Amino acid sequence: MFRCALPVRRLSSLAEKRRPDPFTLLAPHLKTLRTDLLDLLGSGHPALTEITQYYFHHPSKQVRPLLVLLLSQATNGLGKNWNLKFWESTHPAAGGRQDELDIPLSPPDVLTDYNPQFPAHTSTFRDPFVVTSDRSRSHRKPYPHNARPPSLSLQNTQPAPPTLHAPTTILPTQLRLAQIVEMLHTASLLHDDVIDASALRRGAPSAPSLFTDKLSVLGGNFVLGRASAALARLGDQEVTQLIASVISNLVEGEILQMKDAVQQQQSESASDIVKVKADTDRRRSSKHQDAWNIYLQKTYLKTASLMAKGARSAVVLGGCAEGEIWKEAAYAYGRNLGIAFQLVDDVLDYESASATLGKPGNADLQLGLATAPALYAWEEYPEMGELIGRKFESTGDVEKARNLVHKSSAIQRTKQLALEYADEAKKVLQEFPESEARDALEVLAERVVGRKY
Ligand code: FPP
Ligand code: MG
Repeated sequence: MFRCALPVRRLSSLAEKRRPDPFTLLAPHLKTLRTDLLDLLGSGHPALTEITQYYFHHPSKQVRPLLVLLLSQATNGLGKNWNLKFWESTHPAAGGRQDELDIPLSPPDVLTDYNPQFPAHTSTFRDPFVVTSDRSRSHRKPYPHNARPPSLSLQNTQPAPPTLHAPTTILPTQLRLAQIVEMLHTASLLHDDVIDASALRRGAPSAPSLFTDKLSVLGGNFVLGRASAALARLGDQEVTQLIASVISNLVEGEILQMKDAVQQQQSESASDIVKVKADTDRRRSSKHQDAWNIYLQKTYLKTASLMAKGARSAVVLGGCAEGEIWKEAAYAYGRNLGIAFQLVDDVLDYESASATLGKPGNADLQLGLATAPALYAWEEYPEMGELIGRKFESTGDVEKARNLVHKSSAIQRTKQLALEYADEAKKVLQEFPESEARDALEVLAERVVGRKY
C-alpha cells in the first residue's frame, strides 16, 4: 500500500514552491517592455519627453502588463482564430510583427507626428504639401481582416502554424497591448496627481510637483495620444473599442468620486430637518447602501475596468472569439482582481506610512473620500455618516474618522472582502487548461491581496 513519506504540511509547502512567481516568470518581458515603451513617447520637445517618460523611469508593480501577458500565455492556442492571429504575427505582409507595429498606418507627411526614435516615419514642414499619387508608402498594410483562411493564405510561403495550446507564446500584438495598458495607467496618474494635489509618487516627487500641473496634464494627454495610435496599429476593432472605453471609464470613475462626495454632503444637510427617528434610520440605511453601490461602481471604473478589459483584449488578440469561454473568463478574472486590488489600496491608505507606499498615506480622508473602511465603520458607528456627509471637512473630522475606522472591524472586513474578490478571480482560472501561466495568475491574485505597498 502507498504510504506518504512526507507530512501533509510539508507536501503542501512543496506544492506551493512549485507554483511560479509571476513577476520572475515574465521578468525579461517586463523589463524590455518598459524600456521599449520609452521609444513610443519620443517627441521633438525635450521637456515633454522628460515628463511623459518620468513615471516610467521609477519602479512600479507592473501588475497590469503582467496580467495581459499571463492571460495571453494562458489562452494562446485555444481560440478558434488562433491560427490566423499566429500567422499575422509571423507573416511580414500582415504587419503583426513587433517592428511592423511601429510603422504608421498613414503616410508620414500626413501623420506629421514627430518622434526622433522613428526618424524615418516622420516628416518636416519645410515644403508645401502637394498631392501626389506616388507618395512613398513604406508603411505596412493593415491587417487582413477579411483574409482567406490561413490554410489558403499560407500555401506558398509559410509553414503551417501551430494549432495546439501554445502556453509560452506571447504575440507581438499582446506585448504591445501590455505597453498600451501601462501607458493608459500612467497617463491617468499624471492627471490624478494634479487632481489629488499629491506630492509623491513611486517614492519620488510627483510629476506635477516637479514639472507643474499644466505640464503634467499635457504630458498625460500626450501619452494618451501615443497610446491611441499604438492601439490603432494593433488592427483589431474589438480591442480598440474595449481599450478606448477604458479611457472614458477612468474619467467617469474620477467624476463619480468627486460628485459622490458632493451629493452625500447635500443629502446629509437635508436630513438635518428630518427629526423622526424611524425615518432617519431608514434614510441612513438606504444612504449607506447607496454609498456602497457608488463606491463599488467607482472602484470598477477607476481601477477594475482597465484590468478587466485589458485581460479580455489580450485574449481577443490571441484569437479567442465570441461565444468562447476564454474571453468571459479573462474579463471576470481581471475585473475581480481589479476590485480586490483597489480594496487593498484603500486599506493600505489607512495602514501604511508614505515611505512604504511611495506616495502619501492617509490621503483618502484628507481628500474627503469615504472608501470601504469608512463605509464599514459607518455600520458600527452611525456618527461616521455625519463625517462622511461633510467630507471630513470640519476641524478634527479626519482624526475622528480614522479613530472610528481603527476601533471598528472595518479594516479586517475590507481585507476579507478583498480576499473574496481574489478568490472569485482564482475560481475563474479553472476555465483555463493547466499551465504555468495559469498557476502564476493564481499566485498573482494572492499577491494582490497580500501586498503591503
Ligand atoms: C489613482 O487613484 C487614479 C486612478 C486609478 C485613475 C485616475 C483617472 C483620472 C484622473 C481620469 C483621467 C484619465 C486619463 C486616462 C487621462 P488614487 O488617487 O486612489 O490612487 P493613488 O493613491 O495611487 O493616487
Ligand atoms: Mg491619487
